[in-house]
Amino acid sequence: MIKDSQPQERGLAVVRTVAELRKAVSAFRMAGRTVGLVPTMGALHEGHVSLVKGALERGDVPVTSIFVNPTQFGPKEDFSAYPRDEEGDFDKLRDAGCRIAFAPSKDEMYPGEQLTTVTVAGITDGLCGPLRPGHFQGVATVVSKLLLMAMPDRAYFGEKDYQQLQVIKRMVRDLSMPFEIVGMPTVREADGLAMSSRNRYLSPDERTKALGMYKQLVKVADTVRGGKASCAEATATASQALRDGGFDIVEYFTVVDAESLKPLEHAAGPARVIAAARLGRTRLIDNLAV
Ligand code: PAF
Repeated sequence: MIKDSQPQERGLAVVRTVAELRKAVSAFRMAGRTVGLVPTMGALHEGHVSLVKGALERGDVPVTSIFVNPTQFGPKEDFSAYPRDEEGDFDKLRDAGCRIAFAPSKDEMYPGEQLTTVTVAGITDGLCGPLRPGHFQGVATVVSKLLLMAMPDRAYFGEKDYQQLQVIKRMVRDLSMPFEIVGMPTVREADGLAMSSRNRYLSPDERTKALGMYKQLVKVADTVRGGKASCAEATATASQALRDGGFDIVEYFTVVDAESLKPLEHAAGPARVIAAARLGRTRLIDNLAV
């Protein structure tokens, strides 16, 4: 017989409240296990599965949260249209070896009036920051809450959302939070397109055009690495190529310092080439190490 405090050998436990989450996590802790949190907004794909596998490889018990967080969407953004497939997500998590899925309601995440938010300054001044006002405050606040609810040893995030990853690393460092933040490589389709829950918005024609972003990122990384052009020249050429290739709006295409996210003229140290552009109703972001 399995006692309440003992985790089951296998299988996915779906929990909906913070109390249930803490009970399930503490059963693993009492069995001497470490815990790895994978925060997600659901509509899971191979990229998310790689985060669960990253946790397993480090010996952590994977705990995945599924919550489409309203506070990180702007009023004109896709919160209500954001893809949701809870049962499909649970199946993927089960197959990946995840042990706890935390799928709270909005009231469970934000009970009553919320007067507290978390803001990370500086590295949110550029890139997506000014284009999505309030977005990173929404992300930093919900991730803080998820970390405090699950109290993991590590939390896993994809490098695809590179600015988000840096914001969370900085928040954890500045607030002395006792969690290790692990950045995992972007998972790509066979042709190079970065996996994203929003890729399902793309029509077949847009899907073909979307690959242009990855191709231009590779080109800029090569050009800048080889010192064949300045960052400004290389990214201006890439932005034009995206527009010529059918992108409607190039929001940014730039080379930044890998940690401070400040724009660079020449990539002498660790750098990232990073872009955001719109294709029809879909906003795509991607980045590569230089
Ligand atoms: O990357 C995401 O899916 C979200 O921004 C996150 C980290 C789960 C916070 O809602």
